Amino acid sequence: MKISFDATNLLASVVGEAHGVTPGEWKEQERGAARVVENFRARVDRGEVGFPLLPLAKDTVSEILKYANKVRGRYDTVCLLGIGGSALGAWALDCALRGPHPVQKPFSSRHPRLIVLDNVDPCLLAAALEIMDPKKTLVLAVSKQGTTVETMAALLVVREWLGKRASGRMVAITTPERGELYALALRENWQTFSVPDNVGGRFSVLSAVGLVPAALLGLNIRKLLKGAAEMTELCWEADPERNPALRSALLHHVLWVKKNKSIHVAFAYSNRLWGTAFWFRQLWAESLGKARTREGELVQIGQTPLAALGATDQHSQLQLYVEGPNDKVFTFWAVEKHPQEVRIPKTRPGLPAVDYLAGKTLASLLEVERLSTEASLTLAQRPNCVFRLARLDEEHLGGFLQLLEFQTAFMGELLGINAFDQPGVEQSKQFIYGLMGRPGYDASTERFQQYRRAREAAR
Ligand code: PA5
Repeated sequence: MKISFDATNLLASVVGEAHGVTPGEWKEQERGAARVVENFRARVDRGEVGFPLLPLAKDTVSEILKYANKVRGRYDTVCLLGIGGSALGAWALDCALRGPHPVQKPFSSRHPRLIVLDNVDPCLLAAALEIMDPKKTLVLAVSKQGTTVETMAALLVVREWLGKRASGRMVAITTPERGELYALALRENWQTFSVPDNVGGRFSVLSAVGLVPAALLGLNIRKLLKGAAEMTELCWEADPERNPALRSALLHHVLWVKKNKSIHVAFAYSNRLWGTAFWFRQLWAESLGKARTREGELVQIGQTPLAALGATDQHSQLQLYVEGPNDKVFTFWAVEKHPQEVRIPKTRPGLPAVDYLAGKTLASLLEVERLSTEASLTLAQRPNCVFRLARLDEEHLGGFLQLLEFQTAFMGELLGINAFDQPGVEQSKQFIYGLMGRPGYDASTERFQQYRRAREAAR
């Protein structure tokens, strides 16, 4: 596996002192680097955080593969019910390793499609039920808590749609012994897989949450974990020159807190990495957008992540990126050898404005597009860096996902915040439960009504 990190254009010597990292700032970061790794390692050793250990879970892999082999050929659709971290990882894996959805191979029982129902938009659910065949659909209900309202609502609809066949076609991926999803799965005799307690949704792509759908779609999950294991070893290195996640976190920390780069653009130059860009958007936002430090000090920090696609967004976002406020840092995601290649025909139509393209490959054009964007941003003093994947296969993707998770965890340590909780989403969940009539949530409903009254009075 070869994933390189080029941070040259994050340096003050390239983009100027006001927008880049100076040698003095880097020296200071380097001095604290070993402590960042030690602090995070201590959390893992204490069992508080589990994602770094996922690549070693050999028993889980055997159990998943055994099940996938048993049911292979019986379905042409894997329908995933889940939301947030319980859905984005599976989409990222499918998109990266089998291609973006509109251009995937036709589906069949040898090549099942993935349908992710991660919203309660009636149009999404209704249309999905119309196009799927209940006799050929395997349904994965994915929820760590096992009570998430959106997932449970979709589950009730889809279970009814499956009818009598439900028990053989439902799989629950959840925390064992807790939550309504586990109770239902047990009562109705569904296949179950466990989500470890110390692995949060957005860090769970390499647990059963991502591996079960991946294995059912025929992806090589052993290779995925092999790449992740290799990256994990690098990510425990205290020397930032050897540890790309640490180096990236240290540099981005300076740009964020000292150079006011409050927006982080993940600029993928590959349609296959589009799902991963959305997965990363959640990882960075939910992990690092926090009101308080671990000590309780009010800080209200966060760096807004954006997902951008090259070359497409050069014609949509680049104007803003180059000439708008200099408040962003860009990370290009480049692939050296794309899984497919297309050569532009050698025949020249005799038009000077297009003849120069004859015989060139689309991959070379895409890379030139990226280099040109990189150069324009750099000349406009916009800090940017590149993660370059030698190939886009299971090993590289596993390594890359693990790298991004470690980078997020290290950034949490640098900021002194808890990157693994999400207290900010609780209030809205309580309101939803109350307003939808879940027993025990009258106080939330009252709180909501107070808000409405105050709003009316203020109009
Ligand atoms: O990353 C997270 O923790 C969240 O995005 C969760 O994945 C999301 O809220 C879904 O939760 P659950 O898996 O418990 O249904």
